[in-house]
Amino acid sequence: MSTEAKISAHWGKGGLADAILAALEAAGLDPKHLTPDDLAPLDHLHGRGVDATRELLEVLSPDRETHLLDIGSGIGGPARLAASIHGASVTGIDLTQEFCDVADMLTERTGLGDRVTFRQGSALDLPFEDASFDGAYSQNVSMNIADKDTFYAEAFRVVRPGGLFAAAEYAEGPGGAPVFPVPWALVPEHSHLMKPDALRQTIEASGFEILEFIDQTEAMIDSYERARAKLAAEGPPVLSAQVLLGDDGPERMKNSARCVEERRTIPVQVVCRRN
Ligand SMILES: C[S@@+](CC[C@H](N)C(=O)[O-])C[C@H]1O[C@@H](n2cnc3c(N)ncnc32)[C@H](O)[C@@H]1O
Repeated sequence: MSTEAKISAHWGKGGLADAILAALEAAGLDPKHLTPDDLAPLDHLHGRGVDATRELLEVLSPDRETHLLDIGSGIGGPARLAASIHGASVTGIDLTQEFCDVADMLTERTGLGDRVTFRQGSALDLPFEDASFDGAYSQNVSMNIADKDTFYAEAFRVVRPGGLFAAAEYAEGPGGAPVFPVPWALVPEHSHLMKPDALRQTIEASGFEILEFIDQTEAMIDSYERARAKLAAEGPPVLSAQVLLGDDGPERMKNSARCVEERRTIPVQVVCRRN
């Protein structure tokens, strides 16, 4: 099995559409008529969820004329938010066919199909013309990618001159190796993190100018503490990204938090510009 097939199999386990629709019904929602707010607890598959997406989109500040690319778009929560809040058009690309199918289904049910589309493909070989997007973003994707030179070079290629690329990902921290399994990898072989300085160099070598490189450790730890307090007070939420992770989801999420709290991983948000 190729590396990409293994990554795709890691994320797409089958049965996801039914599991999500059942969870939405259990939460008292009408699965035929959904809003991005209804879906927000489960369709932002990264640390700090929808709050992190809102912040990242504010940096890109798209409007109705803007066409964005979401690289590694998952089940489409961030793309739908960009369309509903900012009016942007968004194309999402993701390696995992099942995620693209679920993203399409949820987008139709939120009535955003005229502005948001998804297709299956690899971040390392984007099927788009040079300079074809006004901007791009990618959240928690490159940890699955060893060839970060190509990942950033491809993002640079498809963004128009003057356009921004914002990426949220984890860098390697000083606290020791990650504790596995984490959400993006069950074993070390599927996890590819770089030290912050090496990551900066890789991004700059692609041609981008780095405008911001923010360590989000404190914000992430705050969000874990709030989530733990809520869990203790209210019990497990009916809707959460756990629906996508399966039975070992709680352990993977717990390890991800531990990695940040022990400085094994550093959540970073990078904003860069193609000049
Ligand atoms: C943690 S999920 C994040 C999804 C989405 N960005 C979000 O934040 O909601 C990681 C996603 O990256 C995708 N992915 C991993 N490697 C990829 C690659 N080489 N090309 C495209 N997508 C990839 C996976 O299929 C998965 O959907």
